[in-house]
Amino acid sequence: MIYLFQRFVYQIPRGTRDFTIIEMQNRRYVEEKIRSTFESYGYKEVQTPTFENLELFTAKSGEGIIDEIYSFKDKGGRDLALRPELTAPVIRFYVEKLQMEPKPLKLYYFGNCYRYDRPQKGRYREFTQAGCEIIGTDTPESTAELISMAYNILKNLGLKKIRLKVGNLIILKEIFKKIKLTEEKQKYIIPLIDKNLYEELMNAMSEFRINQKDISEFIDILENSDIEKLRNYLKDNKNVLDEIEKFEKIKNLLENSYKISDLSVKMSIVRGLDYYTGTVFEIEAPCLGAESQLCGGGVYELIELFDGRPSGQAGFALGFDRTIIAMGEEKIVFPKKTIDLYIIPIDEKTILKAVEIAENLRKNGLNVDMDLLRRNIGKALKYASSINAKKVIIIGPDEIEKNVVSIKDMKTGKQETVKIDDLINFLK
Ligand code: HAM
Repeated sequence: MIYLFQRFVYQIPRGTRDFTIIEMQNRRYVEEKIRSTFESYGYKEVQTPTFENLELFTAKSGEGIIDEIYSFKDKGGRDLALRPELTAPVIRFYVEKLQMEPKPLKLYYFGNCYRYDRPQKGRYREFTQAGCEIIGTDTPESTAELISMAYNILKNLGLKKIRLKVGNLIILKEIFKKIKLTEEKQKYIIPLIDKNLYEELMNAMSEFRINQKDISEFIDILENSDIEKLRNYLKDNKNVLDEIEKFEKIKNLLENSYKISDLSVKMSIVRGLDYYTGTVFEIEAPCLGAESQLCGGGVYELIELFDGRPSGQAGFALGFDRTIIAMGEEKIVFPKKTIDLYIIPIDEKTILKAVEIAENLRKNGLNVDMDLLRRNIGKALKYASSINAKKVIIIGPDEIEKNVVSIKDMKTGKQETVKIDDLINFLK
């Protein structure tokens, strides 16, 4: 019994993962590529703590969210939570310390997030997000730039089979108003739209005594929401026409200036989180199956809720783990990590010289490893090839006497003798 219990204790917690050496190399490669796209748009990196006061997350979403997150009391009795996402933490940080920064403020981040989700492929209890927030503007060009950046991050990683869907919550709310769906009823309907449960949606609307013609029109507008159709459908709701125009400008910028051709307008993009207020978007990789959403975001409001001065806010987060799975599905090749040099001292007497040379080369900016197991040359060369060494330096007593080393190029197999004093120049 005790043995069984111990076995359980020493297993990895459900929904978490260890990453192998190769997986970490691939993750770092992807992180660097994402980082460089963020920076190419003028975004700067920030970091916030892994845990926050629980209230930061319940303030907008209510107590219901506690079932979906990791929350706990610390030894001082404070209610805390492991962050389920980074938007609320970054806005908390902004309100506390960054409000005086010049606008627009473009912030990006990488961070581990925790959600009490049911684990499956692409859905974990600990996962990583790469995301960003832009604060201080709500112009159509700022939203279009944000959406295009999300799309280009994924394209720059080599992903070809992705789909961008854009929606708008102000317009959707007007559609709800037109068919007389009260706030109460919307709360019931929105999760059904979010999960694409159309049969349940139609049944619920019938129960709310909405006539069949209105239901069909509503479903059609959710799925085939071209802008003219929206304008026509809402022509009597004058107060939304400005938002439709803004939405159209964003769409035109994305299609005509950012040249994103595979974009679709979908009013069914409602986003699960409660803080969104305007244009929203999602990017999917259909090859991922059930958990195909790679990225989601849009225009939202949180600053005022955290007692900050009103300012435009928008952002998105990309599922880092899902992005890597999608890259695997599209057979994208990750670069192999190499090491510049591997040094093999032939016998015990040559170890000191090998250490001296390795240290000198490292000081000159090269990545150097050396044989620490006193293996014979054959085995040491095999190991060098397994760690992708570009070159191998072999040091024997004869070489030391002549103040030279043998260098073997692992790609061409060519072997040369080089004076120790000329080594740095030769390698550079
Ligand atoms: P979200 O849609 O909840 O948005 O999450 C963003 C992305 O995180 C998802 O599209 C998905 O790829 C990934 N993701 C979510 N849950 C999991 C999970 N359990 N396992 C693996 N990946 C997951 C947000 O979090 C917002 N904060 C985005 C945002 C930023 N909006 C404005 N600014």
